[in-house]
Amino acid sequence: MNHTESVLIIDDEPQLMQLYSKFLSLEGFDVESASTGYEGLDLIKEKHFSLVITDMKLPDISGLQVLEKIKNEFPDTEVIVLTAYGNIHDGVAAIKSGAFDYITKGDIDEDDFILKVKKAADKASLKEQIKNLREQVGSKFRFSKILGNSKLLLDAVSLGKKVAATDNTVLLLGETGTGKELFAQAIHNSGLRKDKTLVAINCSAIPKDLQESELFGYVKGAFTGAVSDKKGLFEEANNSTIFLDEIGDMSLDTQAKLLRVLETNTISKVGDTKTKNINVRIISATNKDLESEIEKGNFRSDLFYRLNGFTIKLPSLNERAEDIPVLANEFIRSYSVKSKKNIPQVTDEFMTKLIHYKWKGNIRELKNIIERAIIISESDTLTPDYLPQEFFSGISENQSLNSKDLTLEELEKDHILKTLSETDHNKTLTAKKLGISSVTLYRKLKEYGVD
Ligand SMILES: Nc1ncnc2c1ncn2[C@@H]1O[C@H](COP(=O)(O)OP(=O)(O)OP(=O)(O)O)[C@@H](O)[C@H]1O
Ligand SMILES: [Mg+2]
Repeated sequence: MNHTESVLIIDDEPQLMQLYSKFLSLEGFDVESASTGYEGLDLIKEKHFSLVITDMKLPDISGLQVLEKIKNEFPDTEVIVLTAYGNIHDGVAAIKSGAFDYITKGDIDEDDFILKVKKAADKASLKEQIKNLREQVGSKFRFSKILGNSKLLLDAVSLGKKVAATDNTVLLLGETGTGKELFAQAIHNSGLRKDKTLVAINCSAIPKDLQESELFGYVKGAFTGAVSDKKGLFEEANNSTIFLDEIGDMSLDTQAKLLRVLETNTISKVGDTKTKNINVRIISATNKDLESEIEKGNFRSDLFYRLNGFTIKLPSLNERAEDIPVLANEFIRSYSVKSKKNIPQVTDEFMTKLIHYKWKGNIRELKNIIERAIIISESDTLTPDYLPQEFFSGISENQSLNSKDLTLEELEKDHILKTLSETDHNKTLTAKKLGISSVTLYRKLKEYGVD
């Protein structure tokens, strides 16, 4: 296969340069040349090269300096250095500074030369492909993909953007389906580590006795079945971010080990006495109330304080019901496109039903309900006919919540507001019906933020 990558050769000996250029042009490479270090660096600023071949000895700066500048500013460009005959020392130094390989001048063998160049070019082109793929994946999970204009959501997004730019530990709280995973991805993909892959683990999906080895790895023989060493997810996430989803379901043993990792920035595999330094950003999430888990003895308070450095509470869908039309319309559009259907119209009644429904599964449930409606609708208009039974039973309406799920306080509020609306907002009558004084009623309404 012919290569089309661009290669820059920096050398001050015209004859050698011509020779290399000839070898490489014949292989299909797009070759340019420079005779000093600075001239080469200027060319690199103007154009992307997959590979730079530089002599170690140049008239102005050293090849090593050229290499270091390239590795700093254009880390995707590979570098091969040309060393003087008999000077392996230079070649080794170059590799230590990030060169792909070195070639000894004087006895240049054409096949060997081409082979090394091809390998370096392949590596550069793979790196480029990975980068492009990562950008494609990353663009799916940006803050701009998090929809909603309610104040509660915008506040959460603004906190997320601020903390993304730091390297802080983040804890995401919110009911199921409120977008915790989406936020974790967006934070990682807008942060300093976005060029590395986010490593995610869902603690509730892993049996408690396997969590430790999953996270930290194990050595051969650590337990029955450990037939060879295995890397843990923390090690995979080194220099990147780990997303500890459903952290409320982490076993107490694993919590203890995680705490040590956070305190020392080192990990050790199960069954191993050696430790290894790591640098991992931690984003965790849970729909559990960790403080009450601590009271029940299911979660370590010291770990909680470590993870809880920066907490973002994601609002439930019912707390931001004004966002439902935006979300619904986007889900209708994207699902229709995905399933190659015309984008249906939506009746007011359909949207009103969505707005008043009590969403237990939040945005995930909304998405599922919309997809279901599009699948079963035979017309080009979505009407309440395409909504499931729960939408018509009354008890699932947002305003008249299922009393079994309510706390005493919520029940009281619900009852007061209902009575108020039954009396056509007559406060004296409401107080009388409820058997409380008007002063108490006013105080309670004020607490609820009701005018
Ligand atoms: N603000 C939003 N805008 C658009 N889509 C969203 C938004 N929030 C969540 N979603 C979508 O809703 C679905 C559920 O989100 P996600 O999986 O992030 O929730 P979660 O909080 O992690 O839920 P669980 O606790 O059940 O794991 C996903 O398909 C996600 O893309
Ligand atoms: Mg999740």
